[in-house]
Amino acid sequence: MTATRFDLYGAIHKALRSAMSDAVAAVGRMDADDPDDRAAALARLRAMLDLLQHHAHVEDEFIHPAIHARRAGAADRCADDHHRQQGQVVELRRLAQLAEGAGGEPRQAAAQLYRSLARFVAENLAHMDEEETAHNAVLWAEFRDGELAAINDRIVASIAPPRMAEVVRWMAPSLTPYERASLFGAIQAKAPAEVFQRLLETARQQLPPRDWNKLVAGIAAAPLAA
Ligand SMILES: [Fe+2]
Repeated sequence: MTATRFDLYGAIHKALRSAMSDAVAAVGRMDADDPDDRAAALARLRAMLDLLQHHAHVEDEFIHPAIHARRAGAADRCADDHHRQQGQVVELRRLAQLAEGAGGEPRQAAAQLYRSLARFVAENLAHMDEEETAHNAVLWAEFRDGELAAINDRIVASIAPPRMAEVVRWMAPSLTPYERASLFGAIQAKAPAEVFQRLLETARQQLPPRDWNKLVAGIAAAPLAA
């Protein structure tokens, strides 16, 4: 059995895949003629785009420089993807505004938004897969797990509390019970008690009872297992 390496991408990419799927589904069933329904669906879309842009920024600031420092050029292709994504996000926001009824035909604009969003998500799924394979191959060859954990700590420290709550809102229900318990074990070990409690409550709101019970049991077992 091969030892599991520290993965900078796994958990956050699971969160993003869930947020992107949710946004595609929300826009797909959106009633363009109902202002309340439209507003709710487009708010979910915009929150997802904000989350994705923040994530790309984190990778540009913390992960790509680390990769370049030990293997120059190895992050260039994904960095180019991020650049292109910025333009695509601007276009999606423009289409969302059109679908909001600010001129034009909302129903037609909504259909165009849906297709563009689906293509954008498809590209992003492939992009994230490249990061999890090609980038992780470089990171695992060039860094020890302790160094990768230190990069992760710097990333976590850079994230403001409201953004962290948003991340946990998507991450908690997207992980396996084992991954979820490990995540909250790490938060409990490193964050102040009130921050841990707040994030745990965020998770509780997103989890079915079965998963919540497993998380509580997993956290309770953590000190014994340590
Ligand atoms: Fe990325």
